[in-house]
Amino acid sequence: MTRVITYGTYDVLHIGHLNLLKRAKALGDYLIVGVTSDDYDLSRGKINNTQSLMERIKGVRETGLADEIIVEEYEGQKIDDIKRRGIDIFTVGSDWTGKFDYLSEYCKVVYLPRTEGISSSQIRSDNKHVRIGVVGHSAYGSKFVNEAKLVNGVEIVGFWSNTQVILGQHRRATDADHEQEDPVIYDTYDELLAASDAIYVTSMPENHYKNSLDALKAGKHVLCESPGAYTRSEYQELRRIALENNLILMDGIKTAYSTAYERLVLLAQSGKIGDIVSVDSVCTSLSSGIYSKDIDLSVTWNSMCAWGVTALLPVFQLMGTDYIDKRIYSSFLNKEFNMDIFTKVDFIFDKGIASIRVGKGAKSEGNLVVTGTKGYIYVAAPWWKTDYFEVRYEDQEKNERFFYQLSGEGIRYMIASFVKSIDLGRNLSYITADESEAIVGVIEDFNARRNMIEFGQSI
Ligand code: CTP
Repeated sequence: MTRVITYGTYDVLHIGHLNLLKRAKALGDYLIVGVTSDDYDLSRGKINNTQSLMERIKGVRETGLADEIIVEEYEGQKIDDIKRRGIDIFTVGSDWTGKFDYLSEYCKVVYLPRTEGISSSQIRSDNKHVRIGVVGHSAYGSKFVNEAKLVNGVEIVGFWSNTQVILGQHRRATDADHEQEDPVIYDTYDELLAASDAIYVTSMPENHYKNSLDALKAGKHVLCESPGAYTRSEYQELRRIALENNLILMDGIKTAYSTAYERLVLLAQSGKIGDIVSVDSVCTSLSSGIYSKDIDLSVTWNSMCAWGVTALLPVFQLMGTDYIDKRIYSSFLNKEFNMDIFTKVDFIFDKGIASIRVGKGAKSEGNLVVTGTKGYIYVAAPWWKTDYFEVRYEDQEKNERFFYQLSGEGIRYMIASFVKSIDLGRNLSYITADESEAIVGVIEDFNARRNMIEFGQSI
């Protein structure tokens, strides 16, 4: 009996898959189909499968061609499967020609002709087409545009900015038609809104509320860099309008979408380190330019908005949003522009304490430590874009390390989640509305100098 094995994602099963499975089956007597797990796909950069693993397995089963279906979960599994399952032939489509020659050491390798003109990516793009307009300036915006290219079904229509910041080498909307590839610059927000289904807001934080409000009122979905507003009441208003109009409103904190961070939160919540007693997060990036007399502070994010929102994420996700009290300690470079060099915020919760330290005008070790009654989680700097973390115990022999693939700092996963939310009409954000609002609340108090002690040389 000739045993054949083939692997694939088999998302939204199509005629190309069916042809491949028929040809694979014809190569022998017994066909094993390996369907990739969601995690494995994520680790190899396939980020926006439409169907779950179970749905994809169901699709393959319904073809009636597979004698056995297995799940492919890790790099290197193919060798293991071939050896342990007594495989004679390994086969895949010709788009992989040459890539699996190394398996010929273990069995025969056959590349079958690929069916032209169809793919899961194509079907996903055709099914959902979301046009996103970007509000704000280039640094974040450009990264976002590059990452969006990797998400099926997303088109970046262009930029608009209410500041005078140079937007990079993009064409103006009036210079070109919208079919061309590069995003263009729009002269007015109304024009950008008219051309978009959804808006990504990465303007200066004081404009987030107004930019998001205008977008929601125009019936557009919103992905906004945190803080989503400057006051809790403004944020509540945005949320209400989004809910009333079935629009998606999501916070754009990319760290929430990094796999290692997400798994860390789940692990901590599962009791792996016992009860959580303290969360301590530090985020700094010394931007010495802020000390220069030439810098325009009116278009520069301060430490609390640039870093505070990310540092607050694990605090609220692990301790909850109902803190009993907090104290803010800040050193300002320039109070007129609200530019803090370094800020520390201490929280007291019912079940524990937390603290964040953030700075653009000072440098520190950017790690995250979650202290528990049985052990602690340690994430080395820069924790906000990490691909691994450690769970440590008193008995060091029990320590464990967890590694996860991180692509695009989490941005592409965030965009995929935003687009899927729009598609399903259900908010799939990794950050709850309560968490977003709690972050806004801290920024509101910071701006009002509430519960604040200032230190250092403020002017
Ligand atoms: N396949 C094929 N012809 C197609 C599409 C896929 O023969 N038009 C084959 C692939 O070569 C592979 C198997 O089907 O052996 C599963 O491929 P998969 O990656 O799941 O399908 P794609 O449509 O290529 O998916 P994507 O667009 O997400 O890469």
